[in-house]
Formats: sequence, C-alpha cells, structure tokens
Amino acid sequence: MNLEKTMRIISVVGARPQFIKLAPFISAIKKHNESHSNQKIEHSIVHTGQHYDYEMNKIFFDELGIPEPDVNLEVGSGTHGIQTGEMMKRAEQALIEKMPNWILVYGDTNSTLAGALAAVKLHILVGHVESGLRSYNRKMPEEINRILTDHCSAVLFCPTENAVKNLMKEGFPNIINKGILSDSSSIELLISDTELPVVINIGDIMYDTLLMGMEIAEKKSTILEKLDIKPNEYYLATIHRAENTDNKDRLRTIIDSFVEISEKYPLIFPVHPRTRKILEEYNIPHSGLNQVLLLDPISYFDMLILEKNAYKILTDSGGVQKEAYLMKIPCITLRDETEWIETVESGFNILSGITKEAIVTSTLSSQFSQQAKKAIFGNGQTSQEMVKVLIKLKDLSF
Ligand code: UD1
Ligand code: UDP
Repeated sequence: MNLEKTMRIISVVGARPQFIKLAPFISAIKKHNESHSNQKIEHSIVHTGQHYDYEMNKIFFDELGIPEPDVNLEVGSGTHGIQTGEMMKRAEQALIEKMPNWILVYGDTNSTLAGALAAVKLHILVGHVESGLRSYNRKMPEEINRILTDHCSAVLFCPTENAVKNLMKEGFPNIINKGILSDSSSIELLISDTELPVVINIGDIMYDTLLMGMEIAEKKSTILEKLDIKPNEYYLATIHRAENTDNKDRLRTIIDSFVEISEKYPLIFPVHPRTRKILEEYNIPHSGLNQVLLLDPISYFDMLILEKNAYKILTDSGGVQKEAYLMKIPCITLRDETEWIETVESGFNILSGITKEAIVTSTLSSQFSQQAKKAIFGNGQTSQEMVKVLIKLKDLSF
C-alpha cells in the first residue's frame, strides 16, 4: 500500500450507542477502499472500555460485523473525573503511536469528550458525529460532553437542522446546511472553499445502521417468539439516564408507572446495568411486577424487532427516541426535555415528565398524530457522505 496516499482515521468508542453508530462508518470505508485504489483509508478502533459486559459491548461487534478494537484502554467504570481522566491519559498514548489524520468521536459520553480532548491537544483533527445537540440542561453530564466536544472539533457532523441552528447560536461561522444530501457529488462541492471548523448537516448515522440492521434483524431475530408476545400488544421500555436512575423517588415512580401501565399489555423492559444496579441498591422491587418483564440488555437486532412491533415505547434513551420516530412507533419520553425536538414536533414523541400520573396518562390516553414531515434524519447515507468530507478536508488545519 502506498502510504503517501493513505488517510488514517481512528474512531474512539466505548459505550453501546457508539458501537451502533460506528458500524455503518466501517462499511462506508470498506466500500470506499474497494472503489478507490489511489486514496485508501486506514481505519483503527480505540475502545475506551467504558462499557465492557458482553451484552453492552461485544455482542454489537459480533452482530454488526465490527472488527475487534485495535486498542482497548480498559478504563471501565468510575466517577466522571476518574473515568474521563483515565481515558484521556490512555487515549493520548494510543493516538501518539498512530498520529492519524482524523479522529472521530460519537455522541456525548465520557468516551466522546476524552477522545476529543486528547486528540485536539495533539493537533489531530477531530470529527464529531452527532454534533450540535443540546438539552440546555447543564446538569446532564452528556450536555457538558457535547458542548466541549463540539468546541474542539474541526468538523461538526450534525444529524438534524435543529442541531445546526444550535451551533449557529454558539457562533460557529462556517455552516453547510444542505439537509438531505441527494446528489452524491454535491457535498464535496459544497465544502470546497470552507475553513475549519465547519458545521455540516449530514443526517443521522443511526438511520444508516437501522437500514442496514433491519433487513438482517427481520430474518434472524426470534425475540417475539422467545418472549411469547404479539406485535402491537406490548409496551417496550428502557431507562438509564442518571437524572432518572440516581434519584430513588424518581426511579420508584417510573417502576410504579410501568406496573400500572402493564395491566392490559405486558411491558418489556431490557434493563441497562446502571439501572439494574441502582434498583438493587435502593431495594426497589423489580420482580413479580404485574406484567412488567425485566430482561438483561438485548442485542441490537432483537431491539429493532421489539421496537418495530411495539404498541408504544417508553424511554429516556436518545437512540431509542430516534428509532421510534423512524419506525413510526408512538414514543413517550420520560424526561422534561429532549435533544430530539423534531420528534416531538412531529407528534410522534411526547415528553411526559416524571410524575406517575403524567407517565401513565401520556402512555394510556394520549393520541399520536403524525405530522407530514420531511426526512428529518437525512436519507440513510450519512456514513458515505462523512467519508467524502473527511477526505476532502484532511489537509486543512486550524
Ligand atoms: C453512558 C453515557 C450515556 C449513554 C449511555 C449509553 C456518560 C456520562 N454516560 O451512561 O450518555 O447514554 O452510556 O448506554 O458517558 N456498567 C456495567 N457494565 C457495563 C457498563 C456499565 O455494569 O458494561 C454499570 C457500572 O455500574 C457503571 C454504570 O453501569 O458504574 C454506569 O456506566 P457508565 O458507563 O458510567 O454510564 P452509563 O450510565 O452507561
Ligand atoms: N439498544 C440495544 N439493546 C438494548 C437497549 C438499547 O441494542 O437493550 C440500542 C438501541 O436500539 C439504540 C441504542 O442501543 O440503537 C441506544 O443506546 P442507549 O439507550 O444505551 O444510549 P443513548 O442513545 O441514550 O445514548
């Protein structure tokens, strides 16, 4: 391989949704390398070790065909300071050894921020996938991670128009807001004279994963049979946000609401390890609860099938809100605010807040009416467009 013409990218990932976002990018690179013999991309994966249980980690690599990480920093769990600090320290070393043209970070976890900070201080260009989201709630660790990551990134890959607007308010001057990129060559043209940092509305990479995954999931998943449930006759719920799990009263209210909701239809609840641990610590009853069925975290393919066939979805997950919207399943978001406001405006997502009455009423009695909406998350080709942008901008610097 001619090294002169090889562009090196490192993806820093560590948490479940980041593996899911990484999968289509790996496919896009593979496609690119197959058709461009004179401009190869060498991609490596640095795994911070933030998520490590099989069902939070390896299951996604296996299912989505993601190669083994080149480096695992094995940081594991800890307080924010310890976890983020250790990740930065260890990521720095891994980056110095490879000195890539780009590092890519995904979403808003501690792994995202640590990767971005370690790289930018080594003058490595940072691309932030899922940039520009804001809840305007600074008590969320994710909000701090997003803001800081955006402000040290060279390319800010926004999933939605609203994300672009948020960044415009923060003073980013170079904005490429094309929305849905239908013409495959146009992105290169649009960015040809740009300077860094550049904000690009490129669509949501999780839509790429969904399109790629659903076809296989339909063939492979037997989760409905395994759980003995019928399409459209169960609720699906996930909870893991610190604001919901770390407050005993709030978590108990959520569980009580699930019990009440599940009178008519069962409520399937794959439990995040954070939530499981806290339910146990707080001694909140979590078995024998009417028709609430607690599961260990499930695979992506099983999750897609459970989402697609659910009567309604209750969640505080960012990814699950989007998937519910994309599959047109009514969603009740158990929070006071959301970064994905387009899904609320579309009439397919309700922000219930966290009182028992509001959760139960929103779930049982609310009417969902879908507004005619353009494709707010792009066209499912985000990862391929990202590859073009990274190649085109690789020689720029701040
Ligand atoms: C993290 C992200 C959150 C993201 C979520 C996706 C931060 C600050 N939060 O939250 O934005 O939505 O991932 O799922 O980065 N644990 C295990 N096994 C594991 C991983 C975690 O048991 O494989 C337990 C540990 O007790 C740990 C707790 O879960 O302390 C929380 O894990 P952590 O990675 O700190 O945050 P998440 O809640 O997973
Ligand atoms: N997911 C999964 N198994 C589960 C729960 C979620 O595969 O048991 C998937 C879900 O379909 C979505 C992603 O994980 O693609 C969302 O991740 P998570 O809720 O952990 O984090 P967030 O999106 O809130 O950051």
